Parts: sequence; structure tokens; C-alpha cells
Amino acid sequence: MWNFFKKRSSESDWTKAAGQKSETSAFHRLHVKEVRRETEDCVSVLLDVPEEQQTDFHFIQGQYLTFKKTIGGEEVRRSYSLCSSPLDGELRVAIKEVKGGRFSTFANRELQAGDELESMTPRGSFHVPLGTEAGSQYVAFASGSGITPVMSILRTTLKQEPDCHFHLFYGNRNSQSVIFREMLDDLKNEFMGRLEVHHILSREDQGSDLLKGRLDGEKCMAFGKTFFDPSGIRAYFLCGPGEMIENIQGALQNMGVAKERIHYELFSAPSAKKPASEKKEKQLDKKLKAQVTVILDSDETHFEMSGNRKTVLDAALDAGADVPFACKGAVCCTCRAKVLEGTADMEMNYALEDEEVEEGYILTCQALPTSEKVVISYDE
Ligand code: FES
Repeated sequence: MWNFFKKRSSESDWTKAAGQKSETSAFHRLHVKEVRRETEDCVSVLLDVPEEQQTDFHFIQGQYLTFKKTIGGEEVRRSYSLCSSPLDGELRVAIKEVKGGRFSTFANRELQAGDELESMTPRGSFHVPLGTEAGSQYVAFASGSGITPVMSILRTTLKQEPDCHFHLFYGNRNSQSVIFREMLDDLKNEFMGRLEVHHILSREDQGSDLLKGRLDGEKCMAFGKTFFDPSGIRAYFLCGPGEMIENIQGALQNMGVAKERIHYELFSAPSAKKPASEKKEKQLDKKLKAQVTVILDSDETHFEMSGNRKTVLDAALDAGADVPFACKGAVCCTCRAKVLEGTADMEMNYALEDEEVEEGYILTCQALPTSEKVVISYDE
């Protein structure tokens, strides 16, 4: 049973606080300036941002763009990390072709300079503030196309913190599948002695057992004994498939690294479902009827949810709110919003940090109301 209506912000106290932010869920038409082949199955795509949209597309290292494209008559939304640094003056993403991936296949085989893509403005929290501590040490673990946001983080951090030191552990099948190999070599030369790149190859012998195989928890423990002091690292950045991240995160914590120092970005959800919190173990009240208000770009949409059959995101879309989303699988974070009143529980969460959850943020594609009245804002 669905009842919904919309009203403008001026009618509500909630939306007065939202201020003059640019539209949260809007897609902007951007022209493709260049499609550059990086490896056999990966391209990087440079986007042209018109003068009047430059401010909207300012980004922080490690952020991503969400694209929308109709392919084969069906709307497809996908998020891809920016590989450029905000200091480069370029907006460039890398897209690796995945088997059966509609957008990635299109981008690798059909997309050309001059084409148009619809993109949301940059978002994501895979970064730490820079310039706050002298002589910081950083470590990144990336697998395959997980190098994309790490590339942006590396370039920015090395430039912005002239006395920092960075270790990159980068896992691939063989040297041909290493994305940005030359660029990494150039960076090593440019930041001589401050950037160490360790390639870990699963199907190629580099003459070292340590550097052969898969990037996992065991390797991470060995690297922590050989290449860096785990307790002296300001931030760890992990990017790749869910299993790799879980493994390495576990290994780092076993070595005494505080969870707050480990930042990660998943490219796919792990095979095992991970509840968003221990709270989730409790049964949700199936009889609960919740009056939900969703705020987006200072507009309110009101609707009723009952039976916990749909998520807040799907219910909001059904109610006509143009709320942002991409993966609908708890990974990309595009659907992030803040609970301003009432409560909601998430089914899974691979994208929000613990502090964000404590502050009231939820992934609306995973959220079900647990109180009779819930107010959720995408503007926060
Ligand atoms: S849409 Fe990707 S996390 Fe919700």
C-alpha cells in the first residue's frame, strides 16, 4: 500500500537547513574528450567539463563518478573511480571490461571521443585530509582495476605532502594486465625514494616468492614484516574485490592496526553476505507501518512503507523521488543519505565507514524503517 505526496522545502523545518546545494541526483551531460587504451581490457576516459559546470565537478582524490546510459533499450547506471588527481586539472576515469558487463563492454568497445555521457557530480569518501601531519607514511593495496582510485590518491598525496612516503602493493595476473604500469614507473622516477611500488603477480614469476601469488592476508603480514612498520602508517587504502579487502583488513588488524586507519573501496560485494551491524540480527517488525519523508535537493517526498518488502530507495523511487543510486548492492555509496528523525536498519553495508553509520548515515538501497516516522535527507 503506497500513499505519497511531495512538497517544497519552504514548507518544512527540515529542508530549511539543507541550504543551496547543487542537485544531489542530477545527471549532467559531458562530452568525452579522449578514450585511451590502458591495457587489453581497460580504457581510461577523459571528460570535458564545460566552464559553467567546473565547480560542480571539483573533486577530492579517491572519488568516483556515476554514469547513466541506455544500452539495448535498458537504463544502466555504473560508478567508476577517478584515476586523475584534482591537481592535474583532468576528469578521467578508468573502466575495465568485465565479462557480461554492459557499461564496461560499451565503454571498451564503442565509446569514442566526441560522444556524450551522463554523469553525476563526484562523490565518495575514500580519502583522508592531506597536509595535516609532516612525514606521513601511507600504504595502499590494490588489485586489478582497484588501482584506479589509488592512482588518484597517490598522485595527489605525493604532490601535496612533499615529505610523505608511499608503499603500493599492486596485484595482477601478469605484467601485461598491469593498468598504468608506465605511469607508475614515471611516478617512481618523479618522486624518487618516496614511492615504492611492489607488483604481486599470480601467473608470472618475478624471481621472488614474496611477490608471486595473490594479494591476500598472508602476503600482507609478510609485507608488514619486510617493507613497512604497521604501527607507523598514517592511513591504509585498500581497493579491489570484497574478499581481498576482508582478508587484508583482518591481517592489518591482527598486526595491531586500528580500524580507523584502514580505508577501503570495494569493486564488488564479497560472496558472503555481511550484515550492516549486529543490530541487524534482531528481527525487523513486519507489521510496522512507517510514514517516511525523503528530502532531496530541498524537496520533500512523503510516503508510507509497510511489510518491509521494499527498501527506502525503491519506495522513494516508486513515490516519484529522483533519488540517486547505482549498484543497489551496498557497494557504491551513491544512495547514501542521513536519517534526521526516527530509525532505519540496513541489510548490508560495504560502503559506509563506522563513523558515518554512527552519525546516522545509511545506504538507502539497503535500508528499512524501524520506527513509525522516519525522515531521511540526501542533502546532508
Ligand atoms: S546504490 Fe550502491 S550502495 Fe546503494
